[in-house]
Amino acid sequence: MTAITIAPATRGLRGHLLVPSDKSIAHRALLFGAIAEGTTTIDGFQGGRDNRATLAACRALGVTVDERGETLCVHGTGFDGLRAAAAAIDCENSGTTMRLLTGVLAGRPFTSRLVGDGSLLRRPMRRVMEPLIRMGATITSEPGDGRAPLRIEGRPLRGAEHLLAVASAQVKSAILLAGLQAEGTTRVEEPMRSRDHTERMLQDFGVALARGERWVTLDGPQALRGIPIALPGDFSSAAFLVVAASLVPGSELRLTGVGLNPTRTGLLDVLNAMGAAIEVVPDGNGAEPMGSLVIRYRPLQATRVAGDLLVRSIDEFPILCIAAACAEGTSEIRDAAELRVKESDRIAVMAEMLRDLGVTVEELPDGLVITGPARLGGAQVDPRGDHRIAMAAAVAGLVGRAPVTIRDPECAEVSFPGFYAALAAAAGA
Ligand code: S3P
Repeated sequence: MTAITIAPATRGLRGHLLVPSDKSIAHRALLFGAIAEGTTTIDGFQGGRDNRATLAACRALGVTVDERGETLCVHGTGFDGLRAAAAAIDCENSGTTMRLLTGVLAGRPFTSRLVGDGSLLRRPMRRVMEPLIRMGATITSEPGDGRAPLRIEGRPLRGAEHLLAVASAQVKSAILLAGLQAEGTTRVEEPMRSRDHTERMLQDFGVALARGERWVTLDGPQALRGIPIALPGDFSSAAFLVVAASLVPGSELRLTGVGLNPTRTGLLDVLNAMGAAIEVVPDGNGAEPMGSLVIRYRPLQATRVAGDLLVRSIDEFPILCIAAACAEGTSEIRDAAELRVKESDRIAVMAEMLRDLGVTVEELPDGLVITGPARLGGAQVDPRGDHRIAMAAAVAGLVGRAPVTIRDPECAEVSFPGFYAALAAAAGA
């Protein structure tokens, strides 16, 4: 598909939808299942391209994974059963795949090479290399600038204390995965609390760890034991539908089985502060909170997002920009410099998209100031291969007054297979 055009909605978004399985949690289920002893079954896997990259990486390292519909059966080998991959492991577009794998491979007694697509090769890897090198690993950035391709020569590791400069669940997870193979205690402290799926899931896999608001510690070496896992729906995928339904008059949309881990649901707090009408009905009793969301249209007011709230809505920045553009008043999104090193420079790309859509926007080094309400006008958007930019552009088309055309829209498949069909179904298009 070279382009897709999304026209303004002709009625509210309605009905009942399930969103695909949580990308962050599925990466961990696959990787932890691979390094565990025994079998891990993963139910409800509708993984997009990122998750498929992790699945292929596990197989490349000698782990058997059977796939029957939406159920995966991972035959864990334990850390010691992993084997050197025959070729470079392609992490494609997935930062989580590359960074978490680096933590696993840092302690394995063989050499690995990690590569990725053009976007991943531009992203910073020193943040994960440096702490692992301090634990005894040998990791080289082939271009020599802290970016991938990475060459990892596994070594015996020793535990260490790490104080992270930025809140990053990927870096925290990589360190903990290395710590599980290390002699002694590993401690990670973050400036703000990032998503905690790793901590929750490692405990389910039988790992003993201690944790506080912004720190985790574990003693190595420790083994994981395979478990059954049911994946919740991805809150970050639901986010696009949540904002679309909040903005289109007449909407009443129900999303069920959505992951509601509080380290991920900052967008709900932001939208509540903006005056949105979102009902949250918790259900389920697993390690990960989940539940249903019922979203009704209601006009939104401007808001300010920064600090901890920004960290808890880090992946929702693109769609939050669309909400802010439609809200009454001037919104400010700050402390978001990390967004410049995601799948694209999301601050710059969103500033350009909003301008093209006719929105008044000011770009700052660490965020955007957006003045609404704008009647989003038709535009051609190049999402730069970034799934969340493409999906935010589609919502702009649906809630605006003229169609939006998105080039190379299939990048949405990275996290949300079937996104355009789901949006069209909800909008009755
Ligand atoms: C993720 C962590 C976040 C997030 C990314 C997924 C994870 O990145 O933006 O989409 O699964 O651990 P950082 O760890 O770089 O903040």
